[in-house]
Amino acid sequence: MTNRKLLQCVLGQKFDVPPMWIMRQAGRYLPEYREVRASTKGFLDLCYTPEKAIEVTLQPLRRFDLDAAILFSDILVIPDALGQSVQFQPGEGPLLEPLEGMDDVKALSVDKVLDHLNPVLETVAGLRSTIDDDKTLIGFCGAPWTVATYMIGGKGSPDQAAARLFALQQPEAFAELMDVLVEASAKYLIAQFKAGADVVQIFESWALNLDEVAFDTYVVAPTVKLINKIRAEIPNAPIIGFPRGAAANVPRYIRETGVNSVGIDYAMPLDYAKQHIAPLATVQGNLDPLRLVAGGDQMNRAVDAILEAFSDTPHIFNLGHGIVPQTPIEHVEQLVRRVKG
Ligand code: CP3
Repeated sequence: MTNRKLLQCVLGQKFDVPPMWIMRQAGRYLPEYREVRASTKGFLDLCYTPEKAIEVTLQPLRRFDLDAAILFSDILVIPDALGQSVQFQPGEGPLLEPLEGMDDVKALSVDKVLDHLNPVLETVAGLRSTIDDDKTLIGFCGAPWTVATYMIGGKGSPDQAAARLFALQQPEAFAELMDVLVEASAKYLIAQFKAGADVVQIFESWALNLDEVAFDTYVVAPTVKLINKIRAEIPNAPIIGFPRGAAANVPRYIRETGVNSVGIDYAMPLDYAKQHIAPLATVQGNLDPLRLVAGGDQMNRAVDAILEAFSDTPHIFNLGHGIVPQTPIEHVEQLVRRVKG
């Protein structure tokens, strides 16, 4: 059995003090990240330069007593590797050349994905040989639907309307795109496991705004295919799913996909999670990142309520979405003390 507490917890073991990590734990709230970022041409160059990507992955672990390192990369390296133009404009978020129909989908090429992402796989291998043996190494990718929302919309959007309409108006092109993303993401995650990742998280950041049928078609079905492909190659591969905003669809998501652990967002009531999620999978979550920005007593109370709700089930402490750039570092220190005692 492994001495990696967070991995063990993903696999169903309960701990009195839960293992913890912080979604988007490497990033702009850390001055040392901003310094490395300023020394690279573009954000994707940072992702594709193993030496720098390893450095920024390690930064949060030097400051805080976290149980896992998460590979530094981005969910949008997959469209980049498939041949779609992806740019990150400072202050604006990602900008892609939007896919308009079947011709654009057919132009994507799965063949070069692993070659293109080889530097990221080097980062994974370098990290596993650098971090302490008891730290869990988390790899990741975006789920097919979430990545598709950026590929179709060309940028982030509050309601994913472009992608939702594309799926309804061009179902064949959409199905083809999902197959391409399942194939590319499966190869990528299998390669991450082979390079040394202990567990992978599938970020479904846009699992909200979908009716039941859309949720099954865009979120559940492609994730089932993705996980089946991974486990055909890596039996029992440990997987965390993060279907943000999926609410009452989460139990079905867990049952159908077979994820070991599920990240719950901060809008999910603790009592609901305790009754309907915890019996099915290791719960990960779910502090509101803005409570971490504000800090103080309100944060301590919220942390205590989360710890209490999951005190008798396997639980990984985390935020309910990514840490934001304006987060004070002292508040992160306060959070880790509160969780670890
Ligand atoms: O420690 C870590 O977790 C770092 C690795 C990481 C990044 N992005 C680095 C990043 C991870 C796991 C992600 C996931 C990611 N990327 C998601 C899913 C998680 C979520 O927050 O919902 C999504 C939707 C993206 C796409 C993306 N990348 C956006 C929308 C943006 C711009 C706005 C933002 O949130 O920062 C990015 C850029 C990005 N990815 C940055 C970092 C550190 C900031 C860019 C910079 O430093 O210039």
